[in-house]
Amino acid sequence: MTETTRAQGPTVHEEILDYYARGKEDARLREGGAPAGRLEFWRTQDVLRRVLPAAPARVLDVGGGSGVHAEWLVRDGYEVELVDPVPLHVEQAGRLPGVSARCGDARSLTDEDAAFDAVLLLGPLYHLPERADRVRALAEARRVVRPGGPVVAATINRFAQLHDLLREERYFTPLHRERTDAVLADGRHPYHDEGFFTVAHFAQPGEVPPEFADAGLTAEGQYGVEGVVWLMGGVEEWLDDPERREVVLAATRRVESEPTLLGASGHLLTVGRRRP
Ligand SMILES: C[S@@+](CC[C@H](N)C(=O)[O-])C[C@H]1O[C@@H](n2cnc3c(N)ncnc32)[C@H](O)[C@@H]1O
Repeated sequence: MTETTRAQGPTVHEEILDYYARGKEDARLREGGAPAGRLEFWRTQDVLRRVLPAAPARVLDVGGGSGVHAEWLVRDGYEVELVDPVPLHVEQAGRLPGVSARCGDARSLTDEDAAFDAVLLLGPLYHLPERADRVRALAEARRVVRPGGPVVAATINRFAQLHDLLREERYFTPLHRERTDAVLADGRHPYHDEGFFTVAHFAQPGEVPPEFADAGLTAEGQYGVEGVVWLMGGVEEWLDDPERREVVLAATRRVESEPTLLGASGHLLTVGRRRP
C-alpha cells in the first residue's frame, strides 16, 4: 500500500485516489445505475430524512463524493458544504446548484467547532483501515457538529463482498474467491485491483458504536441500508416499477434496525450525537 504525501495533514492511500479518479462514482447511485446502488441511494435518503434536523440547517458532507446526496439535501432546503480528498469529486460536486465543495480529509477538518447542525460521513470510515484513523474522523465530526447535533456514518458490512460476488457469480472464479475469502477474517481489503474495490475496511456492525464512544459521540441507532433485498433476484424490476419500489422501501424500513439482520445489509448507517 502506498500513501500520498501531502504538504500537511493526513495522507490518503494512493490506491483510493486512483480508484475514484476513474470517475465512476457519480453514476453509481443515480437512476440508471446498478440496482444495489439505486437501492442504497433511496434507502440512505429515507433514513437521513428521518434523522437529520429539519431544514433549514447546515450540513457538512464529509467524503461526499460527487455530491449525489448533497444535491437532494440542497433541494430539501439544507445548506450543504462538501469535503472530499478526490479533486474530480470536488469539481463535480462544486458544479451542483447550491453545493459548496472543497478538498479535505475527514481526519483533519478546517471548520470551526460546532459550526454545523449535522455531519455526514458516508464514505470515510470504510476507507480508513486503521481504527485510530476512524476514531479520529469521528472525533473531528463531533468537534464540528453543534452540541446535540447528529453525526451519521456509513460502514460497509464485513460480508458484503462475499455476498455481492456470489450474487454476481464472480465468486466462482478462483482468484476472486481467494481475494474475497481473505477479507472475511478481519475486514481489511488492502488493495485496488481490476474488478475489485479499493483499500477499505469492512466492519462488523458491533464495531461501530464503540468507535463512536471513543470519539465522544453517543451512538443511538443503526440502520441496515439495503437489508437483504439487494441480494434478491427480482430487485431490478421491482425498483423500476414506482409502486413496487415503494413497497420494497417500506419493507426494508420495517426491519432496518433488527439486530439479527444488520450485518446482512451491504451498507450500515450508525447515527450518533454530540452530547449537549
Ligand atoms: C463510495 S464514495 C461515497 C460518496 C458519497 N458520500 C455517497 O454516499 O455516495 C466514498 C468517498 O469517501 C471519500 N474518502 C475516502 N477517504 C477519505 C478521507 N480520508 N476523508 C474524506 N473522504 C474520504 C472518497 O473520496 C469518496 O468520495
